Amino acid sequence: MTSWISEYKYSWLEKIAINVIKCGNIPNHIAIIMDGNRRFARSNNIEKIDGHTKGFDKLAECLKWSLDIGIKEVTAFAFSIENFKRSDKEIEDLMTLATYKFEEFLQENDKLKENGVRLRVIGDLSLLPPKLQVVVSKAVLETEENDKLFLNIAFAYTFRNELISTVQKIIENNDSHTCEINEELIGSCLQLQSTPDLLLRTSGENRLSDFLMWQLSSSTLYFTNILWPQVNIWNFLAGILHYQLITSNSSDMRPNLKVPLSQNSQHMLATINAAKKKDLILMSQNG
Ligand code: FPP
Ligand code: MG
Repeated sequence: MTSWISEYKYSWLEKIAINVIKCGNIPNHIAIIMDGNRRFARSNNIEKIDGHTKGFDKLAECLKWSLDIGIKEVTAFAFSIENFKRSDKEIEDLMTLATYKFEEFLQENDKLKENGVRLRVIGDLSLLPPKLQVVVSKAVLETEENDKLFLNIAFAYTFRNELISTVQKIIENNDSHTCEINEELIGSCLQLQSTPDLLLRTSGENRLSDFLMWQLSSSTLYFTNILWPQVNIWNFLAGILHYQLITSNSSDMRPNLKVPLSQNSQHMLATINAAKKKDLILMSQNG
C-alpha cells in the first residue's frame, strides 16, 4: 500500500457493513468536495496546513474504501481557482503539500500500478508553481496505462474557467466553421468525460462551488455536516446508502446516449487532444 491508498484496517463490523452495501447498487463514479479542513484545524488547535494534511490522509482512506467497495472512479476537488484568494501563506503551504504528495505518488508508482490507479489532474495547470506542474504532469503520464481505479484530482479548477478555455479552443480549431457547436462537441472537449453518479460534500455547505457543473447535472447529491478530516467509513457508507435509496426509487435519470460526433468534429477533437497531450509532455520535461 501507499500514502495515496491508506492501509486502513477494517473491524469485523465494518467488513460486514461493506458486504451488505455491496449487495446494492454501487456508484461507479463518486465526486467529492473535501470541505472543512480549516474548521477542523481550528477546533483541534492545529495549523491550517495540518488540517489540509489530515484532509489528504482522508482522501487516501476514501481511495482504499472505494477500491474495496468496487467504486471505479473518484474525482476530488483539491484546489479551486477561487482558493487563490486565500492568504499567501496558506496558498504556499498547500502548493508545497501538493508538490510533496505528487513526488510521493511518483515514488510509489509501482504499487499504484499494482492497484491499477490511473491519475488525471483537471484544472488550469499553468496557474500552478513550475515545480508542481512538473510532478503533476509526470504523475499523470506515468499512470496512463492503468485502468482499475480512475483518480481525478481537480486542482486550480473551476468549471466556468474550464468552459471558457474549452470554447476558446473550439473557436481556434474551427476556423473553417465546419463543426457544429453542440452539446456533444463541448462535452467531448472537457477534461472529464465521465459523469459522477454521486457527489459527496462535507462540512454542512450545500453548494456546488463551480465544481463539475456540466458533469453533475443528473448526479445524486449527498451533503453531510461532518468536517472532511473527521469523515469515517460509516459516513462514507451513509453516502452510498443515500445513493442506493435514491436510485432504487427513480428510473435512470442520466442523460440519454450521446449523438455521435460528425467526422469534422471528431477530427477537431483529435487535434485538441493531441495538443493537450503535447503540452503535458512538454510540462513534464521542464524539470
Ligand atoms: C477545503 O477545506 C479544502 C481545501 C481547499 C484544500 C483541500 C486539499 C487537500 C485535502 C490536500 C490535497 C492535496 C492533494 C495532492 C490531492 P477549507 O480549507 O475550505 O476548510 P474550511 O471550509 O473549514 O474553511
Ligand atoms: Mg471551505
